[in-house]
Amino acid sequence: MSPGFRGLRGVVHPGWQSRDDVYSGAMPMTFDVSRVRAGYPALRDGHAYLDGAAGTQVPEAVIDAIAAAYRAGIGNIGAAFAASERSGAILAESRAAIADLVGGTAAGVILGPSMTALTYRISSALAKGWGPGDEIVVSRLDHDANIRPWVQAAERAGATVRWAEADGATGELPAGQYADLVTSRTKLVAVTAASNVLGTRPDVPAIADAAHAAGALCYVDGVHATPHIPVDVASLRADFYATSAYKWAGPHVAAVIAAPALLETVRPDKLRPSPDEVPQRFERGTLPYGDLAGVTAAVEHLAGLGDPGPGSRRERILASMAAVEEYEMSLFARLLDGLAAMSHVTLYGKAARRAPTAFFTVAGMSPAAVAAHCAARGVNVWNGDNYAFELCQVLGLEPEGAVRAGLVHYNDESDVDRLLSAVAELAG
Ligand SMILES: Cc1ncc(COP(=O)(O)O)c(C=O)c1O
Repeated sequence: MSPGFRGLRGVVHPGWQSRDDVYSGAMPMTFDVSRVRAGYPALRDGHAYLDGAAGTQVPEAVIDAIAAAYRAGIGNIGAAFAASERSGAILAESRAAIADLVGGTAAGVILGPSMTALTYRISSALAKGWGPGDEIVVSRLDHDANIRPWVQAAERAGATVRWAEADGATGELPAGQYADLVTSRTKLVAVTAASNVLGTRPDVPAIADAAHAAGALCYVDGVHATPHIPVDVASLRADFYATSAYKWAGPHVAAVIAAPALLETVRPDKLRPSPDEVPQRFERGTLPYGDLAGVTAAVEHLAGLGDPGPGSRRERILASMAAVEEYEMSLFARLLDGLAAMSHVTLYGKAARRAPTAFFTVAGMSPAAVAAHCAARGVNVWNGDNYAFELCQVLGLEPEGAVRAGLVHYNDESDVDRLLSAVAELAG
């Protein structure tokens, strides 16, 4: 078994300075998972929610913020009356909050309904500048939402698609291959900051550097990474960074973050009377202002998870997410050790740097049957390819995929142990 996390309230020892992460504070921090859990009403149903990779539960503070926005009265933005001004304030606050979460600027935060929708939108806009002879690079480690929009946009433009290969044995996406994949014709490199099934965290800065050396842009899918680590778009050297709030305790809203100066150079399709400035130029129709109040509350919630004490919101987020990462990875070791000890379980992926997401099969049983067995015991896990279609082909797991158990900040040892007991019952 893993060393555990010194019980439910433990001290996180900062190894932060030695990592490529951005938090360089030196103060040990506590992570009180029972306090965190108490903030989530849905957890009171007694289920072990190991499905966070498909969407987290939402804390009371986020529910309250959304309800408060509607209670106060909101209206479409741009009108002279107070309800409209309230929506304008909510919108500005949500852009600032997301910018703080990832280290961007509020004027570069594009909001939309989902990462998939935003990636289709941005790929169509960028592809207006592509033609035959141009190339893009996508990876087989990625969720399909960071593959297919680019492939389809390239096809329409007559551009060539090149593929970065994931290593099926390790789950790694070797960054070295980009030296050959990226050429002077490359327009864009799309890569994930973390695999949504194996958890692999590739060397995004090295991949982005390879893209930039050739004059290409790098579009980073941060949907699976953002809930688990401190994020800094500048350190990642991402030109675009996509994230979905429903994966980090927020509502179903997504954002793509980029430098406003870069956005100024891109002309998406838009309505004639809709705003032409950035980032509004990229936003289609009316935004969900009630939900956006919840986005800001979710960022505040993340900033407080590790109880980081005083500081700017950005400082609190970095410290808090460093504590989240430390806590989750400790719990993940318990999960991986437990599954690895079962001879009827096959685990996929053993990358050096991972998000806390396990992907496994059970001998003689379909992933759907394993997930149903777990569900009957109050343990929520996913089965299938989880849209990591290319990767599951590499792993030889299509069409059934595998079972995915993902940890987030509100999971505890009992959640992990309940999954381990449920899977242990399937031996022999
Ligand atoms: C890594 C990753 N990328 C992209 C997506 C798509 O996000 P959305 O549901 O916001 O379109 C997901 C959703 O599961 C994901 O896990």
